[in-house]
Amino acid sequence: MSVRTIIEPFRIKSVEPIRWTTREQREELLKAAHYNLFLLHADDVLIDLLTDSGTGAMSTHQWAAIMEGDESYAGSRSYDRFRNSVHDIVGYTHIIPTHQGRAAERILFGVTCKKGDVVPNNTHFDTTRANVEFVGAEAVDLLIPEGRQPSLQYPFKGNMDVVALEALIARVGRERIPLVMLTVTNNSGGGQPVSMENVRQVSAICKRHRIPLYFDACRFAENAWFIKLREPGYADKTPKEIAQEMFRYGDGCTMSAKKDGMANIGGFLCTSNDLLAQQEKDLLILTEGYPTYGGLAGRDLEAIAVGIQEALQVDYLRYRIASTAYLGNHIAEGGVPIVQPPGGHAIYIDARAFLPHIPSSQFPGVALASELYLEGGVRSVEIGTLMFANAAQMDLVRLAMPRRVYTQSHVDYLVEVILEVFRNRAQIRGMRLTHEAPFLRHFTAHLAPI
Ligand code: F0G
Repeated sequence: MSVRTIIEPFRIKSVEPIRWTTREQREELLKAAHYNLFLLHADDVLIDLLTDSGTGAMSTHQWAAIMEGDESYAGSRSYDRFRNSVHDIVGYTHIIPTHQGRAAERILFGVTCKKGDVVPNNTHFDTTRANVEFVGAEAVDLLIPEGRQPSLQYPFKGNMDVVALEALIARVGRERIPLVMLTVTNNSGGGQPVSMENVRQVSAICKRHRIPLYFDACRFAENAWFIKLREPGYADKTPKEIAQEMFRYGDGCTMSAKKDGMANIGGFLCTSNDLLAQQEKDLLILTEGYPTYGGLAGRDLEAIAVGIQEALQVDYLRYRIASTAYLGNHIAEGGVPIVQPPGGHAIYIDARAFLPHIPSSQFPGVALASELYLEGGVRSVEIGTLMFANAAQMDLVRLAMPRRVYTQSHVDYLVEVILEVFRNRAQIRGMRLTHEAPFLRHFTAHLAPI
């Protein structure tokens, strides 16, 4: 018997208790939350897989850096460290800090887009789509067809359909497309990676039409790891070299440092275009803060400066991707339909296949997420008809893994809960909406079982 080669590459210095509830309590709590898991109190959740955003554990190096935070309003040392660390990876001239990813999106689209414009993306995340639409532009998803078939095995299901991109540019004209975006990894499409080859092709098309290419870079390190594992020619490159190469094919990026920045808050917007950067910084001052802090404390900038480099470490990425796959592979072996292959930051259960008796109009993803909570106190999130309404191409339940937070025994428990719900799936009922907000309705919607 050989000894395993992957374990959690850290030991735990600080712990936080989690709390059991009874099934009867959870029934009451779920009713009070109108069957919307966003409305639960976090103390009533045992294993919280709502998001991998801002929920990671920081390292001793990050906590030490936090103590070095320089809280000067302008020109702080912490900004320099943040700027140099991010610049080392992305290579763009202007690194504009923001309080999180959507603030970078709002500023980018606010400055570059107007009514009637069109923004193509492999798949817009919900806040990205909402920010594009908020300025009157149209958000178009151009995912390859393979990316829309949950059970299909394909190494780069996050790729953009380059034929569809060419067709879109021909149809609407390059003047109406202020930028093209690639989301790495493709969160709404199953945490699936984009290949370097696809990045290169999209970049070539953008250059030919003189359209800037931006990355929604939230999970750039996980994407780089998948390229290393799966794409010919990259096995011997470091994750950082792969990430650096990817960013070279683009003109800028938006980033939520709450993901592969390994921080609890923060983000940034990058460009090498001086004129654009000036307009972005002007808007930043209006709504986020001075350009050397952008709505963050100096200590937050320090946490990102250290964390974004840690996210690229080989030991960490090997563990990270293996631990997510461990969950996915174990439930898939039990028959649970998931988006294959397992994603980087999350496992996505195909709720339409899990609950074939519940039509999309009755929110099978919400029904399944509610049941996972009832069964085991597990909080997940629907990515489907509630989140995207008519734009939903799948009904998925995402189990997002916070970084460096849960151990293998937590994951074994999750497997048991999910398999138990799968055994009893025939009893699960659909849902109906009883209240909805005009946009981003999934955060606050109220539902009830049918
Ligand atoms: N882009 C992608 C691909 C994201 O996944 C997110 C956030 C954002 C942009 C916005 O970043 O939250 O810092 O404003 N995703 C989180 C999630 C919320 O749960 O997937 P933010």
